[in-house]
Amino acid sequence: MKRILVTGATGQIGSELVPVLRDKYGSDNVVAAGHRRKPEDEFIDSGPYETIETTDAESISALVKKYRIDTIYHLAALLSAKAEENPQLAWHINMNGLQTVLEVARHHHCALFFPSSIGAFGPSTPPDNTPQVTLQRPNTLYGITKVAGELLCDYYFKKYDVDARGVRFPGLISYKTLPGGGTTDYAVEIFYAAVKNEPYRCFLKEGTRLDMMYMPDAIRAAIELMEADARILTHRNAYNITAMSFTPDQLYASIKKELPGFSMTYEVDPLRQAIADSWPHKMDDSAARAEWGWQPEYDIESMTKDMIEKLRKEVSNVT
Ligand code: SER
Repeated sequence: MKRILVTGATGQIGSELVPVLRDKYGSDNVVAAGHRRKPEDEFIDSGPYETIETTDAESISALVKKYRIDTIYHLAALLSAKAEENPQLAWHINMNGLQTVLEVARHHHCALFFPSSIGAFGPSTPPDNTPQVTLQRPNTLYGITKVAGELLCDYYFKKYDVDARGVRFPGLISYKTLPGGGTTDYAVEIFYAAVKNEPYRCFLKEGTRLDMMYMPDAIRAAIELMEADARILTHRNAYNITAMSFTPDQLYASIKKELPGFSMTYEVDPLRQAIADSWPHKMDDSAARAEWGWQPEYDIESMTKDMIEKLRKEVSNVT
């Protein structure tokens, strides 16, 4: 039986991963851990919730002992645009946090999931069909922590036998918790505006093509990778995975098919545009497909339909 700790549990990925893990492994076997932010009631009601500081090894070790944890999903991190606002803090949380959790995993023999990102690539990376193994020279602090994180996880696996595994997530689209300060956030914000019948001002240029994925696919990918037989994994830290690749104008068109009255204009944010311009358009995820059977379910059309349906319910619940 798996006993799981999820750091960053109140964030964009964590708030959707925790309920799925609790359904699968039992509520008491999944400890949600967050930093400062007051959790939603459902976290408190549906299983254990703890407050942690991801760079405090002692308190994380104590949690791991208390709940006899054997697997950690380490999600606590700053996203790309936020990291550019405060690079020192981003290094501290993203890098020192990861190293702390890897040390805990080493001492307590835990498996570890680490989310890398399209941000681990940079302007010299081939942007189309970006290979699994290629040039990785990102020019953002976020990207630097992701490449270093991938390498550190590999190092802990080879040197200390820590069963660390990871994927390079594309932009993630979800309706439950807003991402905080990412470059791909437009693809989430646009839906909030659309279902509220408000116009949207997109902060990326219309032709900016990026890899994207709907959250249910992202959650399934993380769990499937952690469930995979270790013997079949070659590129364990970290696998390219993608589900769709689109530009803001294509997403706008997809939403307009469902909501013809929706309107979008552009007001480009130079910081986030520069970050987006340094990332791949479309990753080659054949290693993940071949090694552990990765297969996305949602494309732009089915994601758009589901997002609008789910977000309408969410928005009507809070208004
Ligand atoms: N969605 C993230 C960001 O935009 C990329 O991994 O920062």
